[in-house]
Amino acid sequence: MAKELRANPHLVLGLATGRTMEMVYQQVVKLHKESQLDFSLCHTFNLDEYVGLAPTDPHSYRYYMEQHLFSHVNLDKRNTHLPYGLAKDFDSECNHYEQRIKNSGGIDLQLLGIGKAGHIGFNEPLSALQSRTRVKALTPTTREQNAALFGDISKVPHRAFTMGVGTILESRRCILLATGKSKADILAKAVEGPMTSMISATALQWHPRCTVVVDEEAAGKLQATDYYRWIFENEPEWQDFR
Ligand code: F6R
Repeated sequence: MAKELRANPHLVLGLATGRTMEMVYQQVVKLHKESQLDFSLCHTFNLDEYVGLAPTDPHSYRYYMEQHLFSHVNLDKRNTHLPYGLAKDFDSECNHYEQRIKNSGGIDLQLLGIGKAGHIGFNEPLSALQSRTRVKALTPTTREQNAALFGDISKVPHRAFTMGVGTILESRRCILLATGKSKADILAKAVEGPMTSMISATALQWHPRCTVVVDEEAAGKLQATDYYRWIFENEPEWQDFR
């Protein structure tokens, strides 16, 4: 991400929230402070936002982004975009969001986490593979996964605005990150399983430039690890990361 931003200061970044991203933003903030990583011309679009939460609500994703990234780097706040959680007219908010992405020239680099049921963004099972930004009802699995942050499952909203699978597939490059044992099963299905709208992350198999970054635990159920390791150790593309 830093490399791409240094090469193109006008980079349009697609961002995600959640526990996996916390360590990413920590590193990014460190690079900003210690190596002058410059965000002044960069634009950001987040994947999703809960319906009904104000940007100032500590559980909103706008608040999360302020806490973990926006307030620590030199991003121009006018260039940071998330769906507006309090919007009443869902269709108009979603169309406007898609339009803003288009007007910015499209997303250059999209960061993604993966939910336990395989969602990317809040594209829950059976999300159409060509879907655009819209409101999705959250599954019980997703609401449980995020309950700890709300203190109680009853407080987790039932709906969220989310970029669609089609919106995500239009980004020029994607990076999917997964860490820990709890992601091993779904990660293996997403990477090596058949493509299905039951697991939105499998749609990334269709993306021409998607990189999956995992720790050993999350990689635990993958089949072709010898092949992946060979590529990582031998292909010039990965030289800087070895
Ligand atoms: C959040 C998002 C979600 C998360 C996913 C993983 O903006 O888009 O798809 O990336 O639920 O969440 P964590 O990292 O908390 O396991």
